[in-house]
Amino acid sequence: MKELKIPLIKSGTVIDHIAAGNAVKVLRILGIPKTHSSTVSVAMNVRSRLGKKDIVKVENREIDPYEVDKIALIAPKATINIIRNYEVSEKHKVELPDEIVGITHCSNPTCVSNYNEPVESRFIVLSKDPPRIKCYYCEREPEDIAERII
Ligand code: CTP
Ligand code: ZN
Repeated sequence: MKELKIPLIKSGTVIDHIAAGNAVKVLRILGIPKTHSSTVSVAMNVRSRLGKKDIVKVENREIDPYEVDKIALIAPKATINIIRNYEVSEKHKVELPDEIVGITHCSNPTCVSNYNEPVESRFIVLSKDPPRIKCYYCEREPEDIAERII
């Protein structure tokens, strides 16, 4: 039986197929609840064909590509659905680029990207799913990527 856990939305963004338990990290990346006043619904541990998943629905907001790369770092199987007038008008699978610049900090305190100079953090993507990255400057692999996303 197909159950509807949370209502369909009229317009906005649905981030679907987030691994169960990771919705809270996705909310944090989107700056919710601090920086946005749109209605947000979250479903956790929803049963689906591929096991349990979380879903985040943000009304009246289309998320930007910069945020999509951040989501790919913590929810590599997520799909981004742009809803317009109740229809899924765009559907994208998130995908990490080969290199990411400026979206997460290096965990090495002596890394050049952590000095007060204007050197932006830069990471080589070693694996997209599960996400593994390595600092371009000092080669350190952060242990908990989600903790350091800017
Ligand atoms: N959705 C929504 N409001 C709408 C339309 C869709 O909240 N007006 C949500 C659905 O609940 C679902 C997601 O957007 O979580 C994608 O919708 P849809 O493409 O119709 O679902 P599926 O075909 O199951 O998606 P997929 O193949 O990506 O799993
Ligand atoms: Zn580094």
